[in-house]
Amino acid sequence: MAFPSAWLDELFSKNEIVSVISSYVDLKPKGRKLWACCPLHGEKTPSFSVSPDKQLFYCFGCHAGGTVVQFIMDIERLTYPEAIRFLADRVGMQMPENVNDRELKLAQAHKKRLYEATRAAARYYFECFTDPELGKPGREYAQKRGLTPEIVKRFGLGYAPDRWDGLLNRLTREGFTKKELLDAGLLVHNEQKDSVYDAYRGRMIFPIIGVNGQVLGFGARVLGDEKPKYINTGDTPIYNKRNNLYGLYLHKNEKLSDLIMVEGYMDVIGLYKAGVLNAVASLGTALTQQQARLLKRYVETVYIAYDGDAAGQNATVRGLDILKGEGLEVRVITFPDDLDPDEYVQIYGKSGFDRLKENALSLNEFKVRSMANGLDLNAENDRERYAVRACAFVASLQPIEQERYYKVIASLTGYAVEALEAQGARSGGVVLKDSATGLRRGGVRRRNDSLENARTVLERTLLAACIADRDALETAKSTGAEALLKTEAFRNLFAALCSADSFSLAQYVAERPQEEAETVSALLREEGAVQNAVRTAKDCILRLRAEEGQAVLSDLQRRLAEPELSDAEREQILKKIQAQLKAKK
Ligand code: UTP
Ligand code: MN
Repeated sequence: MAFPSAWLDELFSKNEIVSVISSYVDLKPKGRKLWACCPLHGEKTPSFSVSPDKQLFYCFGCHAGGTVVQFIMDIERLTYPEAIRFLADRVGMQMPENVNDRELKLAQAHKKRLYEATRAAARYYFECFTDPELGKPGREYAQKRGLTPEIVKRFGLGYAPDRWDGLLNRLTREGFTKKELLDAGLLVHNEQKDSVYDAYRGRMIFPIIGVNGQVLGFGARVLGDEKPKYINTGDTPIYNKRNNLYGLYLHKNEKLSDLIMVEGYMDVIGLYKAGVLNAVASLGTALTQQQARLLKRYVETVYIAYDGDAAGQNATVRGLDILKGEGLEVRVITFPDDLDPDEYVQIYGKSGFDRLKENALSLNEFKVRSMANGLDLNAENDRERYAVRACAFVASLQPIEQERYYKVIASLTGYAVEALEAQGARSGGVVLKDSATGLRRGGVRRRNDSLENARTVLERTLLAACIADRDALETAKSTGAEALLKTEAFRNLFAALCSADSFSLAQYVAERPQEEAETVSALLREEGAVQNAVRTAKDCILRLRAEEGQAVLSDLQRRLAEPELSDAEREQILKKIQAQLKAKK
């Protein structure tokens, strides 16, 4: 990243991880690590560990992990550069002036230009909106949708006139190159004619603004019913929809008790206009882990308020576990009659919305209820099917919660609570996979999961051995371990280990994206477990090979069972199976 490595070395050595984390929690030594109750998620028994040897932390409960930098990012809710500055301030170090990486400087300069271009574009669209002639269709649309001048200003809305080169002409006149405008997603390239033209035409413009106030990209809505309804800026060097939430920047410096997750631009705006100021949108995509983390920096509680239609409901279910996984308290607001939040507040106002919010469902109640989606509870068959499933799910919950939810099932089906409890007890809390709700949990894991986990553990242990001992690394290198690593984070780490003469895990982790940093930090699980590193490495490699062989074999066996095989095909598969079995010996 942006900082010279010698400077980072000094920063790390002055911000020893134990001393930094000790100012947040009381760390107790046990084995080679120090332990505490995790300060990043609520818990009663300590699963938060710090390794002074590796200068990493890892929480076995919430899986947060990384270097002292990641810790500060999480606990102080800072971005990476902010956390670096925080640590530099902490030990009185000056920020480095001369970042001596030429390529990086160029990339940064380019990004800066793109930010300027998107800002200039937002200005242009706003001017078009207010232009007496050009802006007429946009203003009429805004009026129709109740987008008042205050709202237009607050959200920086605009209008892209129905022209091929309006923005192109204006912004090139302002000194932007076509490449810059293309890279920012403002122009589209026509391959055949090798020409460029405006990306958004004849549409209402919704700027997407980052938490630091920069314009990152745009959503553009048609004024009529044509498809697609919205065109959005794709991935650019300054915008990735997976990392952003529409409307979040409005709350940069606020203390909020909760945030409301909605689907679309107009939901954020409609709620805002009605006086519900704290909504943010995932912009129609499934919620990502990065977005959940971003939310976690602001609040502890998130209300999901997706559209009342089936698509919205399915997206809700997917989003729930992601938020929960980040340690957020999750509640679900459901809207009647397929309404979306914007439509709902137009009819029932803020007070109506507040009532829905007060009666929001807990995560588990929502799951219990949504298991009935697509079933007709007036029909006996469906009612039974629902009850069996829902009881199995409830039986997998904490005893205290169970009572509450059996009552919910009883009210939906009319079965007696006692009968439902007995049903739940029989299921032993094993939940059948239900594709409609995406639920999958309970007493047993599916075979695939456990296979995957076995692999991950082997890969992790192998890497731990390679880090612990250079000879183990050499062994792994010479026996082709690289091809066996399926986890991207571990593959990258292995490559880095192989190419470096001296290796600092902490420094490496500091420079990786968050998800990778966490996966690598999970190496702390294996710390201390690696006794004879070379032998451990060999053993892991053998077992990874065996796993891989087994996977190939299972696949072949499955293919053999297919009904429409020709004799020739069957023979070929049998041959391959024989070869695999031989290789196993
Ligand atoms: P909706 O179809 O619910 O739109 O899509 P909306 O936000 O309620 O907008 P209005 O009220 O019809 O104007 C929700 C979100 O999904 C994304 C947009 O982010 C939209 O706000 N979306 C939807 C697209 O990106 N493209 C589309 O064609 C449709
Ligand atoms: Mn809508």
